[in-house]
Amino acid sequence: MALTRAAFDQYMVPNYAPAAFIPVRGEASRVWDQSGKEYIDFAGGIAVNSLGHCHPALVGALTKQANQLWHVSNVFTNEPALELAQKLVDATFADKVFFCNSGAEANEAALKLARRAAIERFGEQKNKVISALSSFHGRTFFTVCVGGQPKYSDGFGPKPAGIEYFEYNNLEAFKALIDDDTACVILEPIQGEGGVVPADAAFLQGVRDLCTQHNAYLIFDEVQSGMGRSGSLFAYQEYGVVPDILSSAKSLGGGFPIGAMLTTAEIAKYLVAGTHGTTYGGNPLACAVAGAVIDVINTPEVLAGVKTKHAQFVDGIHAINAKYPVFSQVRGLGLLIGAVLTEAYQDRAKEILNIAAQNGVMVLMAGPNVIRFAPSLVVNDEEITTGLARLEMAIAQFVA
Ligand SMILES: Cc1ncc(COP(=O)(O)O)c(C=O)c1O
Repeated sequence: MALTRAAFDQYMVPNYAPAAFIPVRGEASRVWDQSGKEYIDFAGGIAVNSLGHCHPALVGALTKQANQLWHVSNVFTNEPALELAQKLVDATFADKVFFCNSGAEANEAALKLARRAAIERFGEQKNKVISALSSFHGRTFFTVCVGGQPKYSDGFGPKPAGIEYFEYNNLEAFKALIDDDTACVILEPIQGEGGVVPADAAFLQGVRDLCTQHNAYLIFDEVQSGMGRSGSLFAYQEYGVVPDILSSAKSLGGGFPIGAMLTTAEIAKYLVAGTHGTTYGGNPLACAVAGAVIDVINTPEVLAGVKTKHAQFVDGIHAINAKYPVFSQVRGLGLLIGAVLTEAYQDRAKEILNIAAQNGVMVLMAGPNVIRFAPSLVVNDEEITTGLARLEMAIAQFVA
């Protein structure tokens, strides 16, 4: 008997509200559903499928590892984890890496490390966490409370203490909050879920300087902005502002679950044996895939391609907007792009998503007023043209 969307309502916890169709197959930037209908994928699994679907290098790495060694726990280390750690260290500011399975876990590790190091160095009072309003850092209870969107953290009982919030991109507001009791500051260089809002360069640099001044660790959450999405391997490299701790996930695994926390040797030393861990962290299958992901992405051709494709998307969206004016702004970096709905179409992003899917193109929203694009970093010209043409049909239908 064929499975249908109704099975979701019957068997699954209702915390998601998936689309009516069920995707069954993908290739590059195309996906097909149970009925054989084809979609161009500009959603990329919410900025995850960095190399599209079933990229040969990733399929090769996964199947090779699947025939070799699946799991040994952290009682032992393994070669794919060591290779991936070395690649991440070679490509970034970091000296040390901690592996986990998701973005939330990478941030959980980052926040725990920052507090631990701050408390050990300066005393118990140095535990304040500063975060931006509208930020999103994951759904574990600590990370969801650190995230600046109370709608996600309310209703679960008492929250951890010592977290304060300020308006993103507002350096004066940040200056008013940071003090010598601040353990860390966590920021997305480009707010993703909060509406695809890039940081102002002067703001990021100002935050960096104030963190240094107050001995507070600067954590960049690059779960969504990282692994090539900005046009640099990590967005901090695009801005030239270096964090103390960085979290990665999503695009790192290209669709295979993995997260990573990167930091310096000086900070890493506070997470001594036994202070933190996770069973699947550094899983050989995940690390083998991520090793192949970074090999493909961290090349001048792919990273330069992200910038070229950014321009193609932005031009295409502006061209649609010239015919059907629904957007007031197109913003973002690289292949993380947000198109903001005008006043006249407030709160209607979800409707556009649905009509776009009916027309054979998958896009995302980032809040109720922003259409978000997070396609494969190697989406090709034909896929971009076809997808944008389908989006234009969808928008025409939407405004009709
Ligand atoms: C910036 C950012 N941080 C953290 C997360 C959480 O990642 P995960 O869902 O893998 O736990 C997300 C997911 O959307 C994200 O965009």
